[in-house]
Amino acid sequence: MKNLTIDITKIYNFVNQPAVASLNAEVNNSIDKLLNGTGKGNDFIGWITLPHDIAFQLDDINATARMLRKECDVIVCIGIGGSYLGAKAVIEALSNPFACYDNSKPKIVFAGQNISEDYLFELQEYLKDKKFGIISISKSGTTTEPALAFRLLKTQLEQQVGKQVARQLIVCITDKAKGALRTLATEEGYKTYVIEDNIGGRFSVLSPVGLLPIACAGFDINRLIKGADDMQKICTSKDLDNNPAATYAAARNALYSKGKKVELLVNFEPKLHYIAEWWKQLYGESEGKENKGIFPAAVDFTTDLHSMGQYIQEGERHLFETVISVQTPKHHVDFPYNESNLDGLNFLAGKRVDEVNKMAELGTMLAHVDGGVPNIHITLPVLDEYYLGQLLFFFEFACGISGYILDVNPFNQPGVEAYKKNMFALLNKPGYEKESEAIRQRIAQN
Ligand code: PA5
Repeated sequence: MKNLTIDITKIYNFVNQPAVASLNAEVNNSIDKLLNGTGKGNDFIGWITLPHDIAFQLDDINATARMLRKECDVIVCIGIGGSYLGAKAVIEALSNPFACYDNSKPKIVFAGQNISEDYLFELQEYLKDKKFGIISISKSGTTTEPALAFRLLKTQLEQQVGKQVARQLIVCITDKAKGALRTLATEEGYKTYVIEDNIGGRFSVLSPVGLLPIACAGFDINRLIKGADDMQKICTSKDLDNNPAATYAAARNALYSKGKKVELLVNFEPKLHYIAEWWKQLYGESEGKENKGIFPAAVDFTTDLHSMGQYIQEGERHLFETVISVQTPKHHVDFPYNESNLDGLNFLAGKRVDEVNKMAELGTMLAHVDGGVPNIHITLPVLDEYYLGQLLFFFEFACGISGYILDVNPFNQPGVEAYKKNMFALLNKPGYEKESEAIRQRIAQN
């Protein structure tokens, strides 16, 4: 069986091999801290053993998913940040994008990831007269965005099917004891799953947070976990030459120390768009603190070569690229022959479309490296549950190593509170009277 692989040879024009290798001691030390629980944020490393620890819950999660799939035409997953992006990423990566236009059921939709009045109105309109269920996900159980969506949709569901039936169609995933969502779920008797104390939101995709929505979409979570478990064994090994997480963490930190402060996660497969969104949160929230950290950004190629390509080729040289490449597509389409050949493309006739895409990938890599953009290349043999499981765990473990090399706590996110404090003060939340007064004075002065 093949595994995910990584190639960093296209960074060596920018940072030499000994400079990358010189980070080995720090990488080793970081792996030790992760495995022995001796690093910063060590009360949040339960995700490391999750691929093994979650095994006993898979039957139960699959059974709940089967029930929701049978009863519902639409399943609404409510959550934000780590309580949303992992499931969204895996579902999009595995789905046929055009299935949303047919009647395949159930449809998985998302809510609670914004505060848009129009989004909520249009979602409620869409759900009118539909058989829908709700998976409400919030570790704290108090986050404003999902709490708002859950208030609205719980009420709508109860109005449409009655309180008794609604109870069977609502599942909550939250803390085992604390928070409003836990209290409500206990009061109402909803089916629940626990987000363990030692697993932070952005590291929770391999817990029920990600697994239940993914199973509801009809995908094989056992294979996803198998892939993650196999990758866990590889990433926790001290054989650094064969440890892709160690290689990735060392390469990106070596580039960072040379002034490459922006990492672009690149794909040539549009289904990976939300994997990049998940990755952005994982790395952005884990590393961006104490005025440090690589800025994680993402582009979809070849689409964005026609928008961002100019900047990447010739703009400020603070970028490096990490490309996720899928070796073999699921389907086969040949470039068609055309009698008139007006577009001059008959030289491609008979080639697989993927061959053209792969040459675009290679050509782009060579052009960008020539233009001063180092390239890290990650290859997945195919885009399926197993290799997505490998990819998710690989990125998580590399993030832990990378955060420790940077000497930050990769598992907290104190900066996320700043906007909430201001928002609550502006909205006169009880208990925020002093902050409300201060923020109003500040606005008046401006
Ligand atoms: O990574 C994190 O911890 C955050 O992104 C959270 O997942 C996000 O803020 C949502 O929090 P909660 O699950 O408590 O609603």
